[in-house]
Amino acid sequence: MAFPFVFLVIVSCFTSVIHVSADHHASAAQPQKPQPAKQPQGPQPVLPRGPQPAAPPGLREDYYAKTCPSFDKILLETITPKQSSNPTTAAAVLRVFFHDCFVEGCDGSVLINPAPSGPSERDNPLNLDLPGDAFDVIVRVKTAMELSCPGVVSCSDILAASARHLIKQVGGPFYKVLLGKKDGKVSKAANVDHNLVDEKQNFDTMYAPFEKKGFTVRDMVVLLGGGHTIGFAHCSRFASRIFKFSPTQDIDPSLNPSFAKRLKTLCADYVAKPDLAAFLDPLSPGKFDNNFFSNIMRGLDLLPSDHMLLTDPRSKPIVEEYAKDSNKFFADFAQAMEKLNVLGVKTGAEGEIRTNCFAFNT
Ligand code: HEM
Repeated sequence: MAFPFVFLVIVSCFTSVIHVSADHHASAAQPQKPQPAKQPQGPQPVLPRGPQPAAPPGLREDYYAKTCPSFDKILLETITPKQSSNPTTAAAVLRVFFHDCFVEGCDGSVLINPAPSGPSERDNPLNLDLPGDAFDVIVRVKTAMELSCPGVVSCSDILAASARHLIKQVGGPFYKVLLGKKDGKVSKAANVDHNLVDEKQNFDTMYAPFEKKGFTVRDMVVLLGGGHTIGFAHCSRFASRIFKFSPTQDIDPSLNPSFAKRLKTLCADYVAKPDLAAFLDPLSPGKFDNNFFSNIMRGLDLLPSDHMLLTDPRSKPIVEEYAKDSNKFFADFAQAMEKLNVLGVKTGAEGEIRTNCFAFNT
């Protein structure tokens, strides 16, 4: 499967806005001047971490050492150039990975195409704008894996390992990814509800799916910050903050006024052009760093849900801490990703190794 890459990039001093093609499943957006990519070389130091959940039996970091010894090489050689030519790939894959893990566990269920048997997770409105670059990565890596070691590598492992590689490539921390997960056999649109929420919910509703899965408020803040330090959001997601915010105020007063003005100009046509989008971290969009947190404190954030992290007393001190301490942010993010990686995983007969990542085996 090939995806056309259609994009127009407009970068201003404060705000980067991207116009992506009409078909989100088949589009990619590209920020200008991506940060230099750092390639992982050899074994990576794993950041210090606190107590971790016990590893599900059968999962190992070197799971493919014997059955697919070129696993890491294929991943590196396939993904690295893709990220270099399409710098929004890392964000795309991380978002899809999160949306996968929170529904039915990290089992590749989000990848399944709509089937005759009914709508799959991708048909749920919360997944309709999942970025095409992520699916393109899966196609490329799976194809290369199948050529080298057919029927061995699961799509859920490809998604998890790709996310880890790409996060590192854009400057983020390295963390442990346990492999050997199987691909799930269920993907239903209805299962997405209550496991993922949109950006308009209150804090309790946003936190509820995390809490249910054993993630703390700190876990949520650090994962969300790691996700939203790269990537973009469509204007429709934050239009309520810059157009008719309240009966008396057109713009959300918590936004930096000149930033808001630029967003208004750049999103002016968002209804006619629903693909208009802005970078979630306008200061360093292509780089994994802790700017996201200081951005919120300076009114340089987009999503109502991101801003809420600063107004709720449960998350505010964590935002302030990460804004000051990049090392702590990196260490906590690494730890939370390790936790996310083993969420609801399937092993043995609970799953399968899909031949095509977008369809169940028949
Ligand atoms: C907790 C509640 C969360 C909400 C309400 C939320 C909401 C959103 C929204 C509205 C967008 C913009 C989508 C678009 O317009 O195309 C977005 C983008 C993104 N989110 Fe989240 N998100 C949440 C948590 C997370 C977490 C935990 C992660 C990662 C672990 C994450 C990773 C991302 C990434 C990487 C993007 C950018 C995607 C791209 O550029 O293609 N989000 N999110």
